[in-house]
Amino acid sequence: MKLWSGRFEKNTDALVDELNASIGFDSRMFREDITGSIAHAGMLGAQGIIEPSEAEKIIEALRGILADMEQGKIAFNIEDEDIHMCVERVLTERIGDAGKRLHTARSRNDQVALDIRLNMKKEIVEIRHMLLDLIAVVLDVAEKNTDAIMPAYTHLQRAQPTNFAHYMMAYANMLRRDCLRLEDCLERMDECPLGSGALTSTTYPIDRERVARELGFARIMQNSLDGVSDRDFALEMMSALSIMMMHLSRFSEEIILWCSWEFKFIELDDSYATGSSIMPQKKNPDIAELVRGKTGRVYGDLFTLFTVMKSLPLAYNKDMQEDKEPMFDAVDTVKKCLPVFAAMLSTMKLNRDNMRRAANGGFINATDCADYLVKKGLPFRTAYTIVGKAVNYCIENGKTLETLSLDEYRRFSEVFDSDVYDFINLDTCVSKRNVPGGPAEKPLRAQLDYIANFLKERE
Ligand code: ARG
Repeated sequence: MKLWSGRFEKNTDALVDELNASIGFDSRMFREDITGSIAHAGMLGAQGIIEPSEAEKIIEALRGILADMEQGKIAFNIEDEDIHMCVERVLTERIGDAGKRLHTARSRNDQVALDIRLNMKKEIVEIRHMLLDLIAVVLDVAEKNTDAIMPAYTHLQRAQPTNFAHYMMAYANMLRRDCLRLEDCLERMDECPLGSGALTSTTYPIDRERVARELGFARIMQNSLDGVSDRDFALEMMSALSIMMMHLSRFSEEIILWCSWEFKFIELDDSYATGSSIMPQKKNPDIAELVRGKTGRVYGDLFTLFTVMKSLPLAYNKDMQEDKEPMFDAVDTVKKCLPVFAAMLSTMKLNRDNMRRAANGGFINATDCADYLVKKGLPFRTAYTIVGKAVNYCIENGKTLETLSLDEYRRFSEVFDSDVYDFINLDTCVSKRNVPGGPAEKPLRAQLDYIANFLKERE
């Protein structure tokens, strides 16, 4: 018999039960559901809404149910519809009428809003820790490779020289913002909806502040209609996770490229790569590809909920039961990706020679060569044209700017002198980019310290 069967004369069709039930996925919130009920019962007793002795009885029984559920002793059945009714049924079976008093001044609408907030708060904390661990790995890889010269690209064309540490710190900064976004979203979701009732609060003299405090919320939600129907917090969290996955996906894409024979900048550790069933030579970057692929999945989760919420009138609508699966899927996916991605990064080996060779080959010091002429007094645009012609000559004659003789240089401009070679040397090119944000030793150190400090503040 359904808890809500009072006004019904017939049972629901079995197919309806199957469609309607959420216990298959919301049972994973049993801890939050019971914790919320314990706080609610304590408040009902303290306010004299139910007998304090009954509240005690309820709380004790709920603790027992929690322990039993932890140990898998209570089966989750579709007949209970959702986790809320499952807990209430078991409670009533165990302590009789007192159990039937628990739902006073409460609805499943504010109950479920509470459960998912508690659940997502916990998940954000966990994900944030994993993210901080990843940032620490990126920082460590950077620290170890401050002198590994590599080409940086625009349009995937070799553009200008930098070092691997500078490259890694770009990702460290993206991940830092991802972490701030999670913290920000956690702060905003830290509001307790319980007490909103079904939608317009309740006539009982409840103490919402007490419940919020006991459950570790910073404050209560200000409006009961909003309390039961807001899912912004979930959308915000999934947006933050989507952006984070987008960063990991870009990072993955680079790893995949760098592993290819065309680049060979890095070699993944055997434990973080896979082979082919047919091609014996293959070592595939599946982890990076999966992270890239799963990014699409997390975007999909976000858009599922966006689409569910669009056009819903206030307040609760059953459509909103569709919020949980995408939320859970997004957090599960992210939690699977982060630690493996970090381990893959920390165990990969750099092929510094190949990186430098690639940096040498693509005229990535052409800007510096033009800057050389500017230093000698030419306007930049003139210098740019001269070097462009010199590059063209190099390409036609199988040379590079480093191997061009001074005589050849002088065919393009009289201003060239023997100090040009030092000026366009790759190490010089990097060390001259000595402004904040650049790859030279001083600004790079500042970037490393900045992120190290960010991590330290969060220890
Ligand atoms: N299982 C429901 C959900 O996940 C709980 C809220 C049900 N409320 C209702 N009025 N039917 O959204």
